[in-house]
Amino acid sequence: MSKTAAQHPLDGDHSFAKLEEADVAQASSIKSVYVYEAPVRIWHWVNALAITVLAISGYLIGSPLPTVAGEASDHYVMGYIRFAHFAAGYVLAVGLLGRIYWAVVGNHHARELFWVPIFQKAYWAELVGMLKWYAFIAPRPGRFVGHNPLARFAMVFGFMVLAVFMILTGFALYGEGSQMGSWQERMFGWVIPLMGQSQDVHTWHHMGLWGLVIFVIVHVYAAIREDIMGRSSVVSTMISGHRTFKD
Ligand code: HEM
Ligand code: HEM
Repeated sequence: MSKTAAQHPLDGDHSFAKLEEADVAQASSIKSVYVYEAPVRIWHWVNALAITVLAISGYLIGSPLPTVAGEASDHYVMGYIRFAHFAAGYVLAVGLLGRIYWAVVGNHHARELFWVPIFQKAYWAELVGMLKWYAFIAPRPGRFVGHNPLARFAMVFGFMVLAVFMILTGFALYGEGSQMGSWQERMFGWVIPLMGQSQDVHTWHHMGLWGLVIFVIVHVYAAIREDIMGRSSVVSTMISGHRTFKD
């Protein structure tokens, strides 16, 4: 006999659905706060993609692939790698300008990326509390709507400072390629004598890559760990914008 809709296992008095509803009725209600507005979220993921492309292409500029046989202009391998690097470099720079604009017009969480309340004692106490939580010393973390105090410190000093540094040194190097008098050279050329000479800028720009790689490893670890072990949603917050609390 074929099953009709009425005979579906989820229907009737002893259905799973009813049992589950009883469970749901006992569950504590989920509280949620809208934290990250759409431009912040879109910027985050575009920025993450740009940094990934920059890191891979930058690494290949510094440690090129083995030479391919034939005319360089026929296969153009380095040309494509450098193009990807420069295109992603522009995305990073223009994205950061857009993100600065949103810090001005967006909600107060949009400004957390740009400063740290270093003169507030409570901030440092909470930061130490989070450090202990990450180090498995404290049994319970605090509850925060925006970035937690440690995440905020890492965002400002681990990401923002490094990103600005990479843009300054990157465009200074770009200015060398686009020649004297180009806007890149006129706006960023001063960086080269400040650091010594061209090779010093290459070396520092290259060091910045490893700084960002360390940031990304720690950041992704912390985001996933907090999502599983912490008291609120984390990864889904950067997707939906809402922070939900588990207790
Ligand atoms: C190249 C890769 C990445 C970079 C450079 C990066 C950078 C950042 C920055 C700068 C912020 C602060 C956003 C703001 O306040 O506007 C942030 C937040 C965040 N990122 Fe990433 N991110 C990267 C990859 C990822 C990945 C792969 C995940 C997911 C596993 C992730 C999850 C998050 C979450 C959940 C937040 C919000 C944290 C909180 O609410 O305190 N990120 N990220
Ligand atoms: C996340 C940010 C970035 C990373 C990780 C990164 C990484 C790198 C690395 C590792 C190199 C090779 C350096 C060497 O060993 O000589 C490089 C070269 C270079 N980067 Fe970046 N970079 C970033 C951002 C930028 C930006 C924003 C620009 C500006 C357009 C830029 C422009 C350049 C230029 C012009 C070179 C030299 C290319 C050459 O000599 O052929 N970079 N980058």
